[in-house]
Amino acid sequence: MIIAVDGPSGSGKSSTARGVATRLGLQYLDTGAMYRAVTWSVLEHGIDPADTETAAARARDLQLAISTDPQHQTVGADGTDITEAIRDPRISESVSKVAATNLAVRAELIRRQQAIIAAAQQTGGIVVEGRDIATVVAPEAELKVVLTADQEARMARRKAELAEGAVSAEQLRDQIVRRDADDSTVAQFLVASDGAVTVDSTHLSLEEVIDVICRLAKE
Ligand code: CDP
Repeated sequence: MIIAVDGPSGSGKSSTARGVATRLGLQYLDTGAMYRAVTWSVLEHGIDPADTETAAARARDLQLAISTDPQHQTVGADGTDITEAIRDPRISESVSKVAATNLAVRAELIRRQQAIIAAAQQTGGIVVEGRDIATVVAPEAELKVVLTADQEARMARRKAELAEGAVSAEQLRDQIVRRDADDSTVAQFLVASDGAVTVDSTHLSLEEVIDVICRLAKE
């Protein structure tokens, strides 16, 4: 079984997808973490994120190791553990530039994501979260969820994830608005998906969203 969970920044995708995978005994793939890993490597090598060809070559050469255990996430790049490093605001700032419009980077990561999904299919299945899972990466998914939440709720969740006083409310709003705009080319994948169920999490707790998706998975 493949469950696709797509949605914008701060919609609660990661916690939701991990929770669903844990409850249903499935593996879990965070495709955003893969784009973040490429971004980390691009910056580490001093490559300009706007230099699409060099960034794509870096993506192809990168030795990327991502765990699919929903309760133990690790990301490695060329032998370095970058699980924490990819969450750095510096990466969040640049990731859309590396990921959203660079089709060669996308092609490379989509190929790797499909290989991980195929392997997981042998052992029961996988919950895959991202932006283009239902439309591009795994259109064969049995369940396709688009997770949404209004901008205020998404901001509040992002703020709760960050250390006290790390960013101001204005900075956070700017970041979310900017990333939504940068990701708008990927967002086209969000709407077009055939047979996707939209779950609006604005007024739901994490447990409630997980319940809804697990119920849909059993239908
Ligand atoms: O911070 P958030 O959880 O929203 O983002 P993420 O899931 O870690 O993904 C980081 C970035 O990777 C997004 O802002 C997109 O630019 C890109 N991304 C993508 O283009 N396609 C995907 N399937 C997943 C992420």
